[in-house]
Amino acid sequence: MKDDSNMEMYADPANYDIESGPIELDNTILLELALQTSGPMLELGCGTGRVTIPFAERGFDITGLDIESGMLAHAQTKAKALPIKWICDDTRNFNLETQYALIFTYGSVFQHLLSRSDQEAMLACVRKHLAEDGKFVIDIGFKRPTSMMNVPEKQAWYSFVDGKGREVQVSGTDHYDHLQQIWYQTLYRHWPEADEPKEGQPERLALRYIMPQEMESLLYYNGFTVLSRYGDWRGNPLTADGYLQIYVCTHRR
Ligand SMILES: C[S@@+](CC[C@H](N)C(=O)[O-])C[C@H]1O[C@@H](n2cnc3c(N)ncnc32)[C@H](O)[C@@H]1O
Repeated sequence: MKDDSNMEMYADPANYDIESGPIELDNTILLELALQTSGPMLELGCGTGRVTIPFAERGFDITGLDIESGMLAHAQTKAKALPIKWICDDTRNFNLETQYALIFTYGSVFQHLLSRSDQEAMLACVRKHLAEDGKFVIDIGFKRPTSMMNVPEKQAWYSFVDGKGREVQVSGTDHYDHLQQIWYQTLYRHWPEADEPKEGQPERLALRYIMPQEMESLLYYNGFTVLSRYGDWRGNPLTADGYLQIYVCTHRR
């Protein structure tokens, strides 16, 4: 079920961590919800454990699930002896025989699912594993028309310093399919200091864009009640000019 045009950016987990940077859990709604919860937690699309590991370090009982075995192997190495359960599986089709008090995504994991049937398969799995009074927290990007462009010529995006201390320049192209609501990017890495490869392998990524009313309908018709919405992990409200949509849900009765 893996869609490779969606997964190329996860082929180098150590680089993923460097480019993504660390995550600060303090003062986030995720930590606040976890502190209000008693029972096991499940992160869907946990990747290299950037969120899973800080939760386990604080003593939470947490499981991380991801489809990419390389990302999980890197997470496991970083987590050392922390008692985290790592599961290599697909968010659209997993069966863990546990009911979780808190299930969450961090990092637009849901947008990797490009069709409604995939989205609904994941939501059905979440419902099956969510404890009766459990909470489900899901984040997705909040995109504007400026991110729905076709930019076929490479543009400079950002730069970072890699694990060997070398500057890496990142550029890319965009294509937005207005009918499917899918954003396709191709990312290129360039090392200006030259005795190493000058160009990395191009990486493709496809993400489904989802608008707020569409997301609320998806959640409602797949059995969830939205308890609250936020525009960032600090708990600021969802507003028309935000960059993130975060929904805290429970079972709809
Ligand atoms: C942007 S990363 C976020 C990783 C992590 N939550 C973080 O914040 O660093 C998205 C993750 O979702 C995972 N993913 C995408 N589709 C998936 C699927 N169908 N089932 C499980 N994991 C998936 C990818 O392998 C990747 O690790």
